[in-house]
Amino acid sequence: MTIQPIKWKKNRLFLLDQTRLPERERYIECRTYLDAARAIKKMVVRGAPAIGITAALGIVLGVEAIPQQNRRRFLTRFEKICQTFAATRPTAVNLFWAIKRMKKLVAHDPFPPLKELKALMKKEALKILEEDVKSNKRIGAFGSQLLKNDDTILTHCNAGALATGGYGTALGVIRAGKSQGKRLHVVADETRPFLQGSRLTSWELKKDGIPVTVITDNMAAFMMQQKRIDAIIVGADRIAANGDVANKIGTYSLAIVAREHKIPFYVAAPLSTIDFSIKTGREIPIEERNSEEVSHISGKRVVPKGIPVWNPAFDVTPNRFISAIITDQGITEKPYGKNLKKLISL
Ligand code: MRU
Repeated sequence: MTIQPIKWKKNRLFLLDQTRLPERERYIECRTYLDAARAIKKMVVRGAPAIGITAALGIVLGVEAIPQQNRRRFLTRFEKICQTFAATRPTAVNLFWAIKRMKKLVAHDPFPPLKELKALMKKEALKILEEDVKSNKRIGAFGSQLLKNDDTILTHCNAGALATGGYGTALGVIRAGKSQGKRLHVVADETRPFLQGSRLTSWELKKDGIPVTVITDNMAAFMMQQKRIDAIIVGADRIAANGDVANKIGTYSLAIVAREHKIPFYVAAPLSTIDFSIKTGREIPIEERNSEEVSHISGKRVVPKGIPVWNPAFDVTPNRFISAIITDQGITEKPYGKNLKKLISL
């Protein structure tokens, strides 16, 4: 079953509305770049690679709408479009990576006819989408070697087809394992407050016939203590040069508990998620989202009015808790500072 969270059809961008899953499967059309930027902000589309792809295609929508004026005005508008996307969500580095790729095209050849430049941009954005699916499959092929028949794997948030161009990173590893004939069972953390685990991970695994059990986040430690988890695999929003990993809030505590119970803790991510410009996870900007995501459940208030709420969307897991990072160029282990660098030269 192919799940496509992002579709580009006849020069139009369609996004599977992840705020409505699992009750409703509907695509919304982004007619303008502002529609696409809003969709990222509101998490109609989410997950680091999917955000990057949407921004690239959103930039295409934006530049297509710029009339064939002089080049300077084009560049000013292009810059504004890029800035709008850069301001949507701060943590997932794939967003900035994709914007940079689109900017590179302009910088590379500053003077082709605008029509040509727009065509080049469309080609590049579609390439980013296509490459992402391929890279997920490579992550799957590498990572599945770490799984044994009958393993039960705990995952947090959604690092699946919905969070990427399709297939997934953490869930891609599980999909690849299944396609090799391994019997695998997934335990999906609910992932408060946005419920990516209970709403999205379970939805997409069910579609693929992969057995999944949903637990609330506070049940994970007990399950590990009971020896019911063989491995943990999560995705990443940004990996610092030293291997510290920013991922969905709650990942850090899972990693600590996994260490206590000697359960391998794996991170699966494409190279585009590694930010070599920052040395450690302390430099990763952590998004704080609307307090209503915590104070309300399905529109109903669950925290008394006037009580302060804190809602950081991500946390940082220090590299020492990570057993291996599974990338599209291979599996890497400690020391990450040295070994991650080696991957880019492959
Ligand atoms: O806030 P979200 O839903 O965008 O957060 C998503 C995650 O934390 C994922 O684990 C991460 O982006 C990896 S997706 C392949």
